[in-house]
Amino acid sequence: MLRFSFLTLFPELLAPFAGEAIVGKARERGLIDVALVNMRDFADNKHLKVDDAPYGGGAGMVIRVDVAERALRSLPPADEVILFTPAGQRLTQEVAEELAGKAHLVFLCGRYEGFDARVEGLVTRELSIGDFVMMGGEAAAACVLEAVARLVPGVLGDPESHQADSFSSGLLDYPEYTRPAEWQGQAVPEVLKGGNHAAVAAWRRAQALERTWRRRPDLLPHAGLTPQDTLTLQGLGATPEDLTAWGAPPAPAKRSRKRRQEADSTS
Ligand SMILES: C[S@@+](CC[C@H](N)C(=O)[O-])C[C@H]1O[C@@H](n2cnc3c(N)ncnc32)[C@H](O)[C@@H]1O
Repeated sequence: MLRFSFLTLFPELLAPFAGEAIVGKARERGLIDVALVNMRDFADNKHLKVDDAPYGGGAGMVIRVDVAERALRSLPPADEVILFTPAGQRLTQEVAEELAGKAHLVFLCGRYEGFDARVEGLVTRELSIGDFVMMGGEAAAACVLEAVARLVPGVLGDPESHQADSFSSGLLDYPEYTRPAEWQGQAVPEVLKGGNHAAVAAWRRAQALERTWRRRPDLLPHAGLTPQDTLTLQGLGATPEDLTAWGAPPAPAKRSRKRRQEADSTS
């Protein structure tokens, strides 16, 4: 079981993410556990104040390190204590995969101007979900819960369903279609309706490659390209310099008409 503990000043913001949909079901099935801990319970004054003015002056309030430390100490030992901050390491699928292998993750969600900087000595990692500033760390923590929980074995019905997802396969995901087969003049590609599994798999791989090539070519060097992928990328217009930069292997050798006829006659 993977346990998630959220230290927050607004547990009610996280309650729906922790209680509904697949996460809620995974909790009922004992695959994950979620604890929402209100840091205000660890204030040591009658007004339950957890923040104070910044030394040196300036706008906003800062969350006290002693409050965060007392809240952390109330929890069972954790593999990771993660501070959410725009200054942190960028959240990626790779980070999510790493976290999914742990037993207990603690998330520190900031508010106001964030935590007293001395909290950095209490954490194992700092994470950011992008180059923008939100009002609090709860939405970032919910993103990590959503990204990590689905990787825990048993949480998704089909264990293979996340392996083809964008980033997990090294490429962006291929486009998906469902009924109706024709909608406002747009038809579902014929190959998906033909029942030829090999043709469907080849079409999907080519589509994933094309999407990645057009939208996120920076992913291609880490995509584990195959000789067939090289052929597809050449067909899309990739240059020999691009292919070298992406570490693409040589394309399969073209068979002569005679060799093709020989192969056809023996099959
Ligand atoms: C208003 S922000 C503080 C921003 C901080 N003064 C700065 O400029 O880096 C309050 C809290 O929201 C959370 N937060 C805001 N943007 C974030 C992001 N991009 N990634 C992760 N957490 C974020 C952090 O927990 C932060 O302590």
